[in-house]
Amino acid sequence: MAINPQQREGLLKEAQQARHNAYAPYSKYKVGAALLTESGKVYTGVNVENAAYPLSICAERTAVFKAVSDGESKFSAIVVVTENGGSPCGSCRQVMAEFAPDMDVIIAAEDGRIDLETTVADLLPYYFSPDDLP
Ligand code: THU
Repeated sequence: MAINPQQREGLLKEAQQARHNAYAPYSKYKVGAALLTESGKVYTGVNVENAAYPLSICAERTAVFKAVSDGESKFSAIVVVTENGGSPCGSCRQVMAEFAPDMDVIIAAEDGRIDLETTVADLLPYYFSPDDLP
């Protein structure tokens, strides 16, 4: 289900706001995400880095895991904000595909400029899905 411009604006603001809480002392690349559930709730997420670098987690996965932990696993849209409109990484694409291949993905820069509006399935064609498991 595609989101309307008002919902998109609201998610953009939440992602921009959340981004201030990103913990990115190593890369200095702060990312904020705002995930809309089909039930109308919004879960934000930020990247959380670690001195043991590989333990860091991206903003998108933080938002998805927060929602799923709360019993929400149907999603309509996610807005991702970075300083320059960077694109979700492969791991995040796979995690989003698990729950919501059809959801809208809106990629924006910190000033609110929207760089790309797409879907998870378009970002990760032929993704591995629960249906692939025997
Ligand atoms: N990062 C995200 O939060 N989301 C992405 O999809 C791309 C990368 C984070 C991970 C790391 O903390 C920083 O950006 C630089 O890679």
